[in-house]
Amino acid sequence: MAEQLAVLLTAEQIAARVRELGAQITRDYAGGDLVLVCVLKGSFVFAADLARAIDLPLRVDFLGVRSYEGSETTGVVQITQDLSRPIDHEHVVLVEDIVDTGLTVGHLIELLRTRGPASVRVCSLLHKPARARVDVRVDYVGFTVDDRFLVGYGLDFAERYRNLPHISVLAQGS
Ligand code: IMP
Ligand code: MG
Repeated sequence: MAEQLAVLLTAEQIAARVRELGAQITRDYAGGDLVLVCVLKGSFVFAADLARAIDLPLRVDFLGVRSYEGSETTGVVQITQDLSRPIDHEHVVLVEDIVDTGLTVGHLIELLRTRGPASVRVCSLLHKPARARVDVRVDYVGFTVDDRFLVGYGLDFAERYRNLPHISVLAQGS
């Protein structure tokens, strides 16, 4: 099957929005410390840009999760890599590439809350509310998108396309 790509968000549009999100987080956490938790692998590009758009002392840590096979969620969230340090009494922002069904982020919020952080918020570059299966609050949303499969800027299809500088819609034709 041939895969076709159509650009949805250009690198420039993404960069402008990431700067706004960074400025908003900088205002909201002014005077405090912050831990950005990058959810691997999809968020690595967004988290790298977001971290540089936040003008505060911060720490970056990584959580590896896996819930997808190809383009379908399995609904089972597997932790492939845990945080490198405790987060008790710290303000945590969970950085996601996309909140789709909400299962992954819902599970991760529960997991992080068991570790006694001062607070946990979610910052997701993309939000697909049409597919929500659980009610999760996304505190910072880059773009609200329609129910189409997206790739690029960290998002993959079967581990490909993560290196595209823009975000495209993936269509499978024959
Ligand atoms: P959820 O658990 O269904 O909310 O899915 C969350 C994870 O699935 C995201 O962090 C992505 O890694 C992946 N995902 C969901 N939708 C897409 C998409 O359109 N393109 C690529 N990956 C996606
Ligand atoms: Mg993924």
